[in-house]
Order: sequence, then structure tokens, then C-alpha cells
Amino acid sequence: MANELFDKAKKNKKDEFYTQLPDIEAELRHYQEHFRGKVVFCNCDDPYESYFFKYFAMNFNHLGLKKLVATGYAGSPVAYQQLFLFDVKCIKESNHGTKRPYKIEINEVGDANADGAVDLSDVEQLIKNGKNTLTLLEGDGDFRSAESIALLKQADIVVTNPPFSLFREYVAQLVEYNKSFLIIGNTNALTYKEIFSLFKKNRIRTGYTNFNVGMYFFVPANWEEYHRVENGRKMVRVSTSCWFTNLDVQKHKEFLTFHKHYSPDEYPRYVNYDAIEVSKTAEIPYDYDGEMGVPITFLDKFNPDQFEIVALGIVGSIEFSSERKMEILKDGKTTGKYTVNAKGTLYRKYNPDIDSKPPAFKDVETGELFSSIYARIIIKRKGTKK
Ligand SMILES: C[S@@+](CC[C@H](N)C(=O)[O-])C[C@H]1O[C@@H](n2cnc3c(N)ncnc32)[C@H](O)[C@@H]1O
Repeated sequence: MANELFDKAKKNKKDEFYTQLPDIEAELRHYQEHFRGKVVFCNCDDPYESYFFKYFAMNFNHLGLKKLVATGYAGSPVAYQQLFLFDVKCIKESNHGTKRPYKIEINEVGDANADGAVDLSDVEQLIKNGKNTLTLLEGDGDFRSAESIALLKQADIVVTNPPFSLFREYVAQLVEYNKSFLIIGNTNALTYKEIFSLFKKNRIRTGYTNFNVGMYFFVPANWEEYHRVENGRKMVRVSTSCWFTNLDVQKHKEFLTFHKHYSPDEYPRYVNYDAIEVSKTAEIPYDYDGEMGVPITFLDKFNPDQFEIVALGIVGSIEFSSERKMEILKDGKTTGKYTVNAKGTLYRKYNPDIDSKPPAFKDVETGELFSSIYARIIIKRKGTKK
């Protein structure tokens, strides 16, 4: 339900989901040691609008940053519509009537009100400091533009919530330029071929924020559908939001312990691939060394020293061993529609003793009934033979 609005927005390529400061703080507090002496780039972040920029500006000294750069995007409908955080008249006036986004570069943050802390009122003073600059970009601020890539090359760590409709391209660019990153994305992206292959190679992992809780984002004032209003701003909840990073994350170094013993009755085999079905990560049997199909959410716990990711359990990622013509059933009943190999998913024999749902497919020749398994990752314990 919470994701319907996100799915619609994704379909319409509406990328305007603005991250809240508490969500940024909750994740970023785990990585402090990674930021000392580093150049941080927020490349999808209107400096007036983005709490990513504000977070790093406020914590500039505490984190020991060398430099902070943020660039906005001309295509963003909120650009220039929100109240300006800073009073920089000359810039406002020079941009009148145009849609050119800003670049802000921060090299020094003082404690202007001398209260020992750096807060937003100090941030207001930032660009009055001669070492910091706020300029108009030459182009539209697209993260793929030469101007933005030049800034990317100078950066050590990229931190933002990028446009979800361009997520594959966005991550590919970070990988191409070999940058550290900490970004918000959607759990749907775990099954994108390109993203999944980075998980397999241990070049991306999920962050600390609970994977299944979701996050609320501010959305533009003209959006008609939203979940709640906070301080006059509309918000949408995306239940499948999560963080992706290539920085170290402690939980992915921890060995998971399991308590269930393997038995063929409790762990049925797929018919079209040589692996057992494990429907919950917590139920991975401690004494099974072969390949196992586990839910996608396993990736949030994945320790590459303990398990190896073999493949995504869908056609195109693994070779299925059988080619059966099947009738597609609806609520267990005949439909007169047919498929091969359960529409390209893993499947296993239907077992009324353990299946809460009716069978999904019926073998046309033998009449056997099957249950379809959609989203699985095939894994095996490290150091075991197939
Ligand atoms: C999900 S929003 C997040 C905004 C901000 N990073 C935050 O978290 O509050 C993604 C932002 O990227 C901008 N955007 C869309 N396409 C872009 C592109 N090609 N290059 C740079 N920014 C882009 C959108 O306008 C939008 O403001």
C-alpha cells in the first residue's frame, strides 16, 4: 500500500523524493571514521533544498571533512520554489527567470554564533566566508554531465538519494569512477542484473537502517497523492527504501548462527534447479552444504565470508533443468493459459501439508501440481562443493 505511490512515481519518472534529516543522521552516524579528511560530493542535491547538504555542512568540523560540494539539477520542479535557506541576494537576482542550478563548495565552516556548535544559523553564514562559494552551474547539473563528472573525479565519497529512475546508470557511474558511496535506493534494485552482480562481487552492500521499515520523503507541493503532511509539506512513505554503500558495514562481517537441522521434508527441492527451498533466512539449515534458495532480503544480512552468492533464481540468471509445459492456475483452478517452466521462475512440487496457497501450475502431461517460487537468491556456504 505504502509503495503504490512510489511505484506510480517510478512509472512516471517522478524522482522528487526529498530525504528527511533524521533518516540521514540515523544512517550516517555509523560511518564517521570514513569521512575524516575526505571530499564529499552530493550530486543530486539542490543546496537550498537538500538535507544531505545541510547534514554535511552542520557536521563539517565534527566529521573533519576536507571539502563539501553539492550540485542541484535544473529539471527539479522544486528548484527555486522553496524558501531560500540563505540570504544571497546577488545569486538570486542573477538567476532570475532562468532554470540554472547551483553548485556550492564548502571548505571551511566556522561557529559564527560562538556557541560551540555548528547549526543551521552558522550554515547561513557559510557563503559569506570567502573560502566557500555558491555559483551557478554552466549546464543543467545532470550527474552525467562533464561538469558534474569533473567534480566527481575530485571527490572521495558520494552521498545522496539519487533519482530512482536512473539508479542503474547512477551506480554504474560511481563504479566506473571507483568512488566510495552511500546512497538511498529501493529494495527493488537488488534484483536489477547490474546491481545484483555488484552484490555478488561484494562491491555493494546494504546499510544499517532497518531494511523493512521504509522512509517518509517530502514531495513537491503540487503532488496530489501523498500519505501525510508535516509542517505544511506533503510526504510519501516508501516502504522499500534502503541504503546502499561500498563502505564497510559491521553487520555484513558478522557470522550468522542458525538453529534448524536440515531434513528433506522441511526443505523441498526445486523441480527445475538443484537446490533446496528455504523460505526464511533465519531458517537456513546449519548442516546443509549444497545450494539453497533464500529470500532476497537475505542480502541485508549477507556476510561474504560465510556465504557465496551463486545466482538470482530467475531465468536468464540460472539454467533451469526442465522444460515443462504447464497450465497456469488461478486460485488453484484451470485457466486454459499455458507457460513453460513456471514463467521462468523456480518451482517445486505442490504439497498441501506445507503450502498455504493453492497450486500455481499443473503439468500438462502428468497432471502434477506445482508451487511457483518467485524471488529467490541461490546461495551456498563458503568453502563447500556443489
Ligand atoms: C530522490 S530526489 C532526492 C533529492 C535529494 N538528494 C534528497 O535526498 O533530498 C532525486 C533528485 O535528483 C534530481 N535529478 C533527476 N535527474 C537527475 C539527473 N540526471 N542528474 C542530477 N539530478 C537529477 C531530481 O530532480 C531530484 O531532485
